[in-house]
Amino acid sequence: MPFRSTTDPGVAAAALAEGNLAVIPTETVYGLGALASEPRAVARVFAVKGRPADHPLIAHVADAAAAAAWVASVPDYARELMATYWPGPLTLVLPRSRKAADYITGGQDTVAVRVPGSPVTRAVIREVCAISGDSSAAVAAPSANRFGHVSPTTAQHVVEDLGALLEDADVILDAGPCAVGVESTIVDCTRPHPAIMRPGKVSAREVAATTGLELGVTSQIRVPGTLASHYSPHAQVHLIDAEMLPEIPASPEVGVIASMSIHTPPGAVRLSTPGDDTEYAASLYRALREADSLKLTDVYAVPPTGPGLAEAIRDRLQRAAAS
Ligand code: TXA
Ligand code: MG
Repeated sequence: MPFRSTTDPGVAAAALAEGNLAVIPTETVYGLGALASEPRAVARVFAVKGRPADHPLIAHVADAAAAAAWVASVPDYARELMATYWPGPLTLVLPRSRKAADYITGGQDTVAVRVPGSPVTRAVIREVCAISGDSSAAVAAPSANRFGHVSPTTAQHVVEDLGALLEDADVILDAGPCAVGVESTIVDCTRPHPAIMRPGKVSAREVAATTGLELGVTSQIRVPGTLASHYSPHAQVHLIDAEMLPEIPASPEVGVIASMSIHTPPGAVRLSTPGDDTEYAASLYRALREADSLKLTDVYAVPPTGPGLAEAIRDRLQRAAAS
């Protein structure tokens, strides 16, 4: 194995502080982390992930006080979002401070910051702060998948995608499956009204209710996670109404993702049987990856209906289907 596997947050923190990479579990998906103040480590994140250098990374920090060091100004409504949803699956895009260098922001004058909800992730960040003597130290991390692939929700997913590209001194921190299973909600906080750039567990409705503001239209800021063909497995994904499911080809190369109340048509492979939206989100990326490991040609998914987390699930299914 060309990397070290651990369940000890301290081992991951030490690797990061020494300028190596650490794969960190978060409550959303696994991230490929580097100490944000180490340009060479951050450059390796881009190389390992195969990500274009002008696509910015999220700075993961220990708390809102640490986030303040990375941003130049915070509108009142963003403060309310921080107070309500941090630690948690919410990323805020704000005007950057000088600390947020071009190699983090892809040269943009904004920076994305998030305080992860997972206590394990925060333990890593706090330990990195302690070792580096910087209470606002950040771990810069994208999702720990090859660029354009499905995000990983287990350490094993990361090993399959990136294991061969990591080095001896790099670490994979295993904290089991991610609870949320889809990436954080990204909110553009650079304008008078907040705008949802990527839907997630924190819903548009919640952002509007918390801030008391109408949501703005999505900004022009580049977000690769919003490229039409992202989150893609090799199998062709089709979105389908439950009533149409009996019409799909009866083939052992065809997979089905649908909620518990919907039956699998004869001959198809059931990939996931979520009882509710929470289970749907938590099992979605595992199911898409399983389709590939079973070498399925097609996946038929019946999307969840309604607002909230269902919006984020539909968003990811649509992107998976777009390729
Ligand atoms: O849940 C998550 O957000 C996970 C975990 C690991 O924290 N991270 C994640 O990172 O999904 P990534 O890089 O795969 O997706 C973050 C998205 C990217 O599309 C990136 O372009 C966008 O956030 N982003 C980062 N900084 C930005 C900025 N300053 N302005 C606009 N978009 C930004
Ligand atoms: Mg990603």
